[in-house]
Amino acid sequence: MRAVVLVGGEGTRLRPLTETIKKELLPLMDRAVLHHTLDHLSRHGVHEVILSSSYLEDTFRSFIEARRGDPTITWITETEPLGTGGAIVNALSSVGTGEPFLALNGDIVTDLDVTAMVATHRTRGAAATIALAHVDDARAFGLVATQADGRVLEFREKPQEQVPGDINAGTYVLEPSALSRWEPPGSLSIERDVFPALIADGLPIYGFSSDAYWIDLGTPEKYLQAHFDMLDGKVGSAPHYATPFVADSAAVHDGARLGRRAVVCAGARVERDAVVEDSVVHPHAVVEEGATVRRSILGPRSRVGGGAVVNRSVLAEGAAVPAGVALDEARVSAGQVAASTERTGAPGRMG
Ligand code: GTP
Repeated sequence: MRAVVLVGGEGTRLRPLTETIKKELLPLMDRAVLHHTLDHLSRHGVHEVILSSSYLEDTFRSFIEARRGDPTITWITETEPLGTGGAIVNALSSVGTGEPFLALNGDIVTDLDVTAMVATHRTRGAAATIALAHVDDARAFGLVATQADGRVLEFREKPQEQVPGDINAGTYVLEPSALSRWEPPGSLSIERDVFPALIADGLPIYGFSSDAYWIDLGTPEKYLQAHFDMLDGKVGSAPHYATPFVADSAAVHDGARLGRRAVVCAGARVERDAVVEDSVVHPHAVVEEGATVRRSILGPRSRVGGGAVVNRSVLAEGAAVPAGVALDEARVSAGQVAASTERTGAPGRMG
């Protein structure tokens, strides 16, 4: 089976991390998000994957070159961002016409039973099957309304109030013939253009409900939550990770304190008397002596100076927080030095 994995979004909500790193290539525990996705697909019999993006495509080259084994990867460069629907239509020539195929957002973490979803799609004779996730608060998503047998009635706009409901989980089984009316390359949204048009034409579009783990990595909060859930063993398809998670090549001083929901990636360093809680420390980032990091993401090669306090903040690649500075809910761009908003008064050394 083949799958189109969408990796061409700008990831604006995850800035400044995504200033230099594609959302799908951000580390998730011990490897890039996309590795987890491809491994999951491989376990479900997907042996050929098509990746497409118009944006930061160079950064995918080294990923593809370094990736070994199943599935094989075909790369498509979009001349301009085509949107989620346009990118899928644009990939049809690589997908082939005979068989149903999978299409999925590359920014989701799920242990969805893809095999069962494809089987259900075939049994129902569906033109498209959409994985649904049940959420308690649908305000950030559009709702998908289905009838009792799972047939999709409509896509609804984001609700104003906090209501529970089924949302589009960003994984689809699609019949190529259902998409033949659209000429590539054109910009289309799968939710706003493609599915509503197919429903209006009376094609059999079904939802696939399950109790699978599902999260989209759209925001820093959700990116952190995905790590916490992996540490808590909530993602069925993920390996077991020790808590806190410290990569083999990371260096954590015996006198540093890591909370159980701390993730310290390869080559990162946490020095004496530093505290890291509920946070992800990316490869080769450094938390210097006596610094405290809570509920934050420290991008690759970023640096938190001695005695600094970083709370609910995101440092992009190569960003720095000077010694002794306190940061709360800050976003520091790639290669920038955080403005000193408040001094902690804690002893620190310049690094
Ligand atoms: P935000 O800017 O934060 O909304 O991020 P995004 O554009 O990545 O967001 P969205 O959640 O809409 O995208 C869902 C998935 O589709 C992500 O994996 C994106 O990388 C991907 N995607 C979005 N737009 C495009 C596009 O134009 N082309 C391709 N190939 N993929 C896209």
